[in-house]
Amino acid sequence: MKQISLFVVLVATLLISGCNCKPQECPASALDVIMSRTSIRNFTGDPVSKEQLEVLLKAGMAAPTAMNVQPWRFVVVTDKDKIAEVFGAGPRSGMFTTAGAVIVVCGQTTMMMRPFGQPDAPETEVPNKFWFEDCSAAAENILLAATAEGLGAVWTAGYPAEERIAPIAAALGIPAGVVPLCIIPVGIPAENPTPKDKWKPENIHWEQW
Ligand SMILES: Cc1cc2nc3c(=O)[nH]c(=O)nc-3n(C[C@H](O)[C@H](O)[C@H](O)COP(=O)(O)O)c2cc1C
Repeated sequence: MKQISLFVVLVATLLISGCNCKPQECPASALDVIMSRTSIRNFTGDPVSKEQLEVLLKAGMAAPTAMNVQPWRFVVVTDKDKIAEVFGAGPRSGMFTTAGAVIVVCGQTTMMMRPFGQPDAPETEVPNKFWFEDCSAAAENILLAATAEGLGAVWTAGYPAEERIAPIAAALGIPAGVVPLCIIPVGIPAENPTPKDKWKPENIHWEQW
């Protein structure tokens, strides 16, 4: 009888709490992750494992992409000295120097294509008008995956700010035709800001502007 009561209490507890995962293990819904993502700019300085970084990169590569071209390229820097050397200058360098890794999301701005309706023609290199959109989707997926993994991250500007892009491209050996879109420091959060409430119904026009 006592065992049955204990079992009933256990089942009731599980039903009330939803699941018995520890918070950091509890699989969050996609919407939970989207609504809880916020820019994190202070990190503990601890490293981020290669396995976790690959989870983030896999999420990046799962983004939608025009004509399935997948123009994203990623440079991942984990070496502390190199992070300080490449990203450590400037007034807000703390978000880089305390990060466990920095992911530079880059876009290949050209693609190989055959002229339409000519399946036997040779492929030629043409501009990819959609590299920016594709790589932005990949960057957002990385930010969301970081949140889902209990990591912090922030999108910092690259393209089109030439003065930001040029020194990073040079320092990391990024080839011509590949543009750093954004620079994402990733790390163990050392701050816990409340996500901003950006819900503004006035920005929506139902049926007609
Ligand atoms: C295109 C773009 C460029 C950004 N550049 C920077 C930046 O250079 N430095 C920075 O600290 N945050 C940067 N951010 C992050 C924004 O400041 C942040 O997303 C915004 O304030 C909203 O806050 P939230 O991300 O916490 O919702 C950038 C975000 C975007 C989308």
